[in-house]
Amino acid sequence: MPSKIAIVGTGLVGRAWSIVFARAGHDVSIFDPMEGASAKALELIAQNLPALAEANLLRGETPAAVLSRISRADILEEALANAVHCQESAPERVEVKAALYKELDRIAAPETVLASSTSGIPASQFSEGLAGQRRVLVAHPINPPHIIPLVEIVPAPWTDPAIVTQTRDLMAAVGQSPISTTREINGFIVNRLQGALLAEAFRLVEDGVCSVADVDAAIADGLGLRWSFIGPFETIDLNSARGVPGYCDMLGQLYYDLAKEQADLREWTPDLVAKIDEQRRAALPLSEHQARQDWRDRRLAALVGHKREQAQKDGTS
Ligand SMILES: NC(=O)c1ccc[n+]([C@@H]2O[C@H](COP(=O)([O-])OP(=O)(O)OC[C@H]3O[C@@H](n4cnc5c(N)ncnc54)[C@H](O)[C@@H]3O)[C@@H](O)[C@H]2O)c1
Repeated sequence: MPSKIAIVGTGLVGRAWSIVFARAGHDVSIFDPMEGASAKALELIAQNLPALAEANLLRGETPAAVLSRISRADILEEALANAVHCQESAPERVEVKAALYKELDRIAAPETVLASSTSGIPASQFSEGLAGQRRVLVAHPINPPHIIPLVEIVPAPWTDPAIVTQTRDLMAAVGQSPISTTREINGFIVNRLQGALLAEAFRLVEDGVCSVADVDAAIADGLGLRWSFIGPFETIDLNSARGVPGYCDMLGQLYYDLAKEQADLREWTPDLVAKIDEQRRAALPLSEHQARQDWRDRRLAALVGHKREQAQKDGTS
């Protein structure tokens, strides 16, 4: 049933969350302590919505209908009043989050879930000792969440498991794809996976094995095609007639040997970063960076639309 959602912090991520909840039918109250920030956010959201409607990402609604559910709150109390869920998207600084959560916990009704978009600060670092620490957790999106559905739910040691379930259910109901950890862990799930891949990508370039462009092609024209709709476990399961055991019998030793080679830790030294940057800038001058970001976002929206269409056609998720 549609209910009220509070968005606290209306930068890049807060604006995207506003769209996620409003297009799912929720009333969204946005708050930002910086003068003029939430008014600017509403303007930017309004500018963004027509392109999303075109990409079929507004559930068939008009931009005006979605926008009509988003309102500005002048004070935090107004945003939090009667909210079932607060999605905090304030700056990624532990002292900012710690001070803010004291306020949120003091003002919000005890049943309001307090979820942080933090990319990497465990919820225990800003919720310890709060009277309502049981209702605080991380709900980390992949930017931008109105296009990319994945959200990582990461509880603090004291988060009530019922709050994890409630947050997963809410995220699924608004069309996101929630995953959750059983405990706090650095980097959550996505950045741990991405970190492992990046470590190898940097190593291959540092050792002169291949170019930056070839690493990118290995994913964009290879692994990434499957990964855009099935993950690594389903990939290996489907790559052997006997499923995962068959794959592991076939290639387990190879991967074990590779893992031993990959165990030597490398720092991303200034020289290595410069080498990678040189190749990237030759492919894409900085003057074209913004245009390429816009292109990426259009392609992402089209890909997500395509995935939804295919899933509807063949009845898969
Ligand atoms: N940008 C990303 O790619 C990305 C992805 C996933 C998660 N996140 C996380 O989302 C959060 C927000 O990131 P962003 O990229 O939107 O940052 P941003 O700088 O675009 O926006 C932050 C907003 O918070 C406001 N703000 C400042 N102090 C505040 C306070 N005390 N209370 C509430 N709001 C306050 C600012 O005015 C600003 O509008 C961070 O925790 C970040 O790690 C970011």
